[in-house]
Amino acid sequence: MDIWHVRGGRKLSGSIRVQGSKNASLPIIAASIVSPMECVLLNTPKLRDVDAALKILRHLGCKAEMSGNQLYIDSRPLSLSHIPPDLMEEMRSSVIFMGALLARCGEARLSPPGGCQLGERPIDLHLKSLRELGADIEEEGGEIYCKKSELKGCTINLPFPSVGATENILLAACAAKGKTKLIGAAREPEIVALAEFLRAAGAEISGDGTEIIDIEGFKPKKYVLNRIIPDRIAAATLCCACAACGGDIQLKGAEFSSVLYFLNQSGCDIISGTHSLRVACPGKLRAVKGISTAPYPGFPTDAQPVLMAALLKAAGESTIEENIFRNRFRHVPELRRLGADIDIEGKTAFIKGVNELHGTALNATDLRGGAAMIIAALSAEGESVIMDEGHVRRGYERFDEALRTLGGEVYLET
Ligand code: EPZ
Repeated sequence: MDIWHVRGGRKLSGSIRVQGSKNASLPIIAASIVSPMECVLLNTPKLRDVDAALKILRHLGCKAEMSGNQLYIDSRPLSLSHIPPDLMEEMRSSVIFMGALLARCGEARLSPPGGCQLGERPIDLHLKSLRELGADIEEEGGEIYCKKSELKGCTINLPFPSVGATENILLAACAAKGKTKLIGAAREPEIVALAEFLRAAGAEISGDGTEIIDIEGFKPKKYVLNRIIPDRIAAATLCCACAACGGDIQLKGAEFSSVLYFLNQSGCDIISGTHSLRVACPGKLRAVKGISTAPYPGFPTDAQPVLMAALLKAAGESTIEENIFRNRFRHVPELRRLGADIDIEGKTAFIKGVNELHGTALNATDLRGGAAMIIAALSAEGESVIMDEGHVRRGYERFDEALRTLGGEVYLET
């Protein structure tokens, strides 16, 4: 059990480099097995989810060694195509190994993935798309069997721009005979990052970052060097911490994002530099109405909890609508225990600004909800203790050190 000790009341200041992206590194780690290769991934974040992905690689027979934030993978010795439930259940991204194993071995045996409890998280779009590519997939006894089959390029229409389904399609299509056209693809920067890795590995991919991606073929390379992009949600989290506490911080490696648009509306000054951001926030924010999560380039669902935490004391009533996950307000009851005034009606949270929050004991519900609690506790009077079954460390690298570097009083007891 991780225990976060937080003392609120201080403004944040200083400069910090943003960690590498969890949601870019995980699919790229899976992609390292699509063909026998050695690869070096720079700026790989040290996270529990990355550890889980490396456990899967080693189980499959690959070599994987982290040295600082540099990850070396040798997928040439891969010898298995089965991932046991205990390794699948550790995170959501384990499902991306399905497309990668289909590309490499033509078969795979795994079980449904784990990940944050944000409401039902089916993989029907993954399975539908891989079947259209020719995969012979049976679901039986809680396991997913992708039997030996030849993949053939085709046109796939995604009814929703699922990030994970897009990633699985890109990976499997590398081994498909002929061209694959994906219509309705997710457009997140992490999709572009995966496509860039696959191009460096010999795939002919175009259109990534738009809703139509073409995968035309694959001439595997033996060695790939890649740098993981900065984590835009970790950057947004630190910006929201500054907004919640007041202060003036600089984030190296961060880019402007839709989250900052709303922070600016609430009264923060955002100064964009070359691969850096400066965020200056007054003590008191203005409420912001009409925040609504959407697929990229819309407002990211992953920033919804942390932006909510930043607005708990904003003057007036803010509204945040969650459109991506059915149950992504599990952090709200915990924030109310700090004194927040939040009502939920259907998909919308109504946040009435309060003058003060008061430290107390909290329980982290999931990765971004846990980060939201830490941010809210930093803006509360007095001390808070947050019990956490390791959720926050799944996605934030040394989050306690990062916040202390910016002047926050946060101590992690593990
Ligand atoms: C990725 O999850 C991210 N995780 C999530 O970040 C992020 O919230 C999400 O994309 C949306 O941006 C990783 O990249 C590891 P989806 P993913 O498939 O791929 C439904 C974080 O905090 N859906 O785009 O699981 C699904 O239930 C995590 O870092 C289906 O119905 O997201 C959800 O409601 C949380 N059928 C919506 O689509 C499917 O087959 C979005 O899911 C797949 C998804």
